[in-house]
Amino acid sequence: MQQHTHVKTAELEEELIRDDDDIPSNPLINPTFQEVFNARLNRRGFLRAAGATTALGAAALTMTSGLAYANGKTSLTFTELPHGYDENFHVAPGYNANVLIRWGDAVEADAPAFDPMNQSADAQSKQFGYNNDYIGFLPLPFGSKSGNRGLLAINHEYTNAYLMFPGITKANYQDAMTRDLVDIEMAAHGHTVIEVVKDGNSWSVVQGSPYNRRITALTTEMKISGPAAGHDRLKTKGDPTGTRVIGTLNNCAGGDTPWGTVLIAEENFHGYFGGNPEKTNEARNYKRYGLKAKSSYAWWKFHDRLNVEKEPNEPNRFGWMVEYDPYDPNSTPVKRTAIGRFKHEGATTVVNKDGRVVIYSGDDQRFDYIYKFVSDGRFDPNNRAANRDILDSGTLFTARLDADGSLHWLPLVWGTGPLTPENGFNSQADVMIETRRAADLLGATPMDRPEDVETNPVTGVVYVMLTNNTKRKNDQVDAANPRANNKHGHVLEMIPPGRGADADHGALTYKWDIMIQAGDPRNPDDKAQYHADVSQDGWLSTPDNCAFDSRGRLWIATDGAPKAGFADGVWATDVEGEGRALTKHFLRAPRGAELCGPAFTPDDETLFVAVQHPADEKGSSFEKPSTGWPDFKAGTPTRPSVVAITHGQGKTIGS
Ligand code: FEO
Ligand code: CA
Ligand code: CA
Repeated sequence: MQQHTHVKTAELEEELIRDDDDIPSNPLINPTFQEVFNARLNRRGFLRAAGATTALGAAALTMTSGLAYANGKTSLTFTELPHGYDENFHVAPGYNANVLIRWGDAVEADAPAFDPMNQSADAQSKQFGYNNDYIGFLPLPFGSKSGNRGLLAINHEYTNAYLMFPGITKANYQDAMTRDLVDIEMAAHGHTVIEVVKDGNSWSVVQGSPYNRRITALTTEMKISGPAAGHDRLKTKGDPTGTRVIGTLNNCAGGDTPWGTVLIAEENFHGYFGGNPEKTNEARNYKRYGLKAKSSYAWWKFHDRLNVEKEPNEPNRFGWMVEYDPYDPNSTPVKRTAIGRFKHEGATTVVNKDGRVVIYSGDDQRFDYIYKFVSDGRFDPNNRAANRDILDSGTLFTARLDADGSLHWLPLVWGTGPLTPENGFNSQADVMIETRRAADLLGATPMDRPEDVETNPVTGVVYVMLTNNTKRKNDQVDAANPRANNKHGHVLEMIPPGRGADADHGALTYKWDIMIQAGDPRNPDDKAQYHADVSQDGWLSTPDNCAFDSRGRLWIATDGAPKAGFADGVWATDVEGEGRALTKHFLRAPRGAELCGPAFTPDDETLFVAVQHPADEKGSSFEKPSTGWPDFKAGTPTRPSVVAITHGQGKTIGS
C-alpha cells in the first residue's frame, strides 16, 4: 500500500516563507476585479454547460471532481509515486536517479576538494555553487542534437548560510558573518558551466574540460547593453560609465537561445542591499522593487557598493536578463536592458515565423506581471555571430488578460500612452529601469506570482506557472487569477494565433485559458481544476519551474508543496487530447528542498533536475540537517545537487 506521510504544515508554514515573494509591492490593485471575474466565470460556465471544447480540444476539465467523465487516457506510462515527505530523493519505478554534481564539487580544473570545515572564497569560486535552480542542456558539438554529450548551464540562485557554515544560525547570521564567509556566499552565487557525457545510462562531469566555468557574484565582470546602458541612473563610483558591473544576483530560472547562448534571469536582487533606500534619489523606484533598509544578507557590511547610502545607483544594475555564451569560456556575460528590469523568472525564447526573436518572462512576485520581448532584428540560423546583439533592440510588452478570454500585449515604449515625462519617464532607459511602474501605468494584469514560462514545441502555446498568492482577497480575484487566498497556484495558457510553427508570437492579441488550478481535487475548498481522473498522488501544489519534452508534454516542478502535506517534486501531463490536465507524480525531492530546473536532452532520454535547498526547514543546521542528502555522511552537510534521470531500459522519459 502506498504510505501517505503528512507533515505538520503549521510548523512548516513559517519556515517556508523564505523570501519576499510573499510581500507584494504592487500598490495598484485594480478595483474592478469582481466584475471581470464574474464575466469570465460565466464564459467558462457556458463552455462547460455546452460541452464545448477550448481551442486546444480540452474535454475533461472540472472545477472539482464532482462531474463524471470517461476514463482519461494519458500518454505517460510510468507508475506514479505516492505523495510523501522524507529524507530521500524518489523517482518512479524503473527509472535511475544519479547525483551528477553537488555543491562544492570541482568545476574549474584547479578546484580543490570540497572541505566544508575549511571553505574559502577562492575554492568556492572554482567549485559548484549553492542552490542550483535553472538547468540548460546545450548539445556538443554546437548545432548537433546529441543526447549523450553536452554542456550543462546551471544557475545558483542564493545561499543558506545556516546550512553551509558551522556555527552560523538564522538568529546569529547578521552578526556572525565575517568578510570571508560573505565572500564564500558571493562566490556560491551565480552560475556554472560543465561538460557532461553519458556512458550507457550513466552521466558524468568531464573533469578539466575547457568549457567548465564558474560565474559568480563576487568577481565576474559583465557588460551592460541596450537602452539603459550608460544612463546616469546606472553610473556608480566603481563604474562611471554605467556599462560594466561585477556579478549577477539571484539567478533563478532561465533559458537558452537558438544561437546557443544562455539567459540567466536575475530575480530577487532587492534582498542583497543595505542602507536606507529612502535616503536615495531612487526611493520610489526601489520601493516598487521591495528594497528595504534591512538587508537579507550581510554582504553590504563588507562591500560598500551594496550599501545604497554609498552607491545609490547600484540596485539599478541588477534585475536584468543576463546573456552569455557557454561555448566560449572566455565570453563576457551581458545584461540586456531591452528585456526590462524586474524579478525575472524564466526566459523562453521562440523564433517567430517571421524570424523575429520572442522572449517570454515572468516577474515573480505576488500581483506582478507577465512580459514578452520581441526583437527588431531577425534570427540568422546560418551565422551564429550575427545574432550576438539581437537582444539589444526590440519592444518589451506586458500582458493584460481580459475576462472574455483575450490577452493583450501592451508595449512599454517611451513617449507612448502614459510613459511620458509627466509620469517621470524621460527616455526609454527610464522605462526599462522602472519596468514595473511603467507596466502599472499601462494596466497590466497583476498575477499570482508568474514563475517559469515555457512554449510548447508542438502547439506553440505558452505556459505560465503561477505559484500561489495567499494575499489575494475576495475583491481582488479576476478571471485569470480566479481564487482568493490562492494557496496552490495555477497553470495558465497564453495562446497565440496559429499553431506550432505557424503560431504568431509577434501578435498583439492572444487568447488565454487556465489548464490547471492546483490543490486537492477532493477538497471542495481548494476549487481545484484537473482532469477528472487525477489520482490521489497526481494532484500538485505550487507550480514553479517547468519543461516540455519534445512530444509537447508538460513537466511541472513545484516549490511549496510541503504546505499541502507532501514533498516538492515533478508532475507530468499531456496538454492535448484525452490526457489533458491529467497530472501524474513522477519524482519527489528530499525534505526541505524545492525541485528546480527540469531539462531534457534532445532525445528525451535524460531529464536533469536540480534539488535546491535540501534540509531548509525548522530545526535544521549545518551540523544536524533534517536530511543528510545526498551524502548521508557524518560531518558532511546537506548539499544542493543536480540529478540525472534515465529510464532503466534506455527508453524516453515518461515513455
Ligand atoms: Fe527563484 Fe521565483 O523562484
Ligand atoms: Ca522559482
Ligand atoms: Ca523551465
